[in-house]
Amino acid sequence: MTDMILFGVFPYVAVALMIGVGIYRYFVDRYSWSSQSSQFLESRVLFWGSVPWHYAILIILMAHFLAFLIPSGWAVVVGSPLRLYLLEVTGLALGISTLIAVALLIFRRIGNARVSAVTTVVDWLVLLALLLQVATGVYIAFTLRWGSVWYLHTATPWLWSLFKLDPQVHYLAALPAVVKLHAFNAFLILALFPFSRLVHVVSVPLTYLSRPYQVVVWYRQRRTG
Ligand code: HEM
Repeated sequence: MTDMILFGVFPYVAVALMIGVGIYRYFVDRYSWSSQSSQFLESRVLFWGSVPWHYAILIILMAHFLAFLIPSGWAVVVGSPLRLYLLEVTGLALGISTLIAVALLIFRRIGNARVSAVTTVVDWLVLLALLLQVATGVYIAFTLRWGSVWYLHTATPWLWSLFKLDPQVHYLAALPAVVKLHAFNAFLILALFPFSRLVHVVSVPLTYLSRPYQVVVWYRQRRTG
């Protein structure tokens, strides 16, 4: 019953919140739809936290998605021991990078008074949820070998069952608690998404690629005399 609520019902609540509140916020409070960067308050630590974080987490999430979207192709990749080791070692290196990066981002918000002053409760919730997510991910990768293989027989069918609106939570039932925490927290992050700065994830200015160029005219006051 608990598994059904956590892994069969909550994912839909999280996605509904993400889409529903996300659309509402976009139309009602569009100027808040950004990362609300604090770069002008502190940029050095931000650079060392934010840049590795974004590169590493995007690659890790792409791997999660590929194993979900194209399981047969993923099975071929992890089917050879050499490729499996390379994949897992790369994953671990990236995972540890995300862990260090998110720790830096947290210490920056604690240690810098100016950044701390503009940090909201939701910012803290998001940072802690991200820390928990990458910490449990790295822990799983270290201790429960080989995640990139058993993911195919547990997470992939569970996620597909959610997608088909027929949640099959038994795929997760026998997994250790830390994997369940990792799976639940992923949807918690989705639920926090529309209430937080995370919305910037879907505001990448892709229209820049196709829109007509703009002529920018700078206004400078002429010196008189
Ligand atoms: C917000 C979404 C998610 C994020 C940010 C995330 C992040 C991570 C990170 C950072 C790692 C460590 C990678 C490594 O060191 O190799 C990891 C591993 C893992 N994640 Fe996730 N994850 C997410 C969602 C999920 C979901 C929904 C599942 C499904 C149960 C899942 C299952 C796993 C597994 C099985 C591993 C171990 C992979 C291995 O051993 O190579 N993750 N995750």
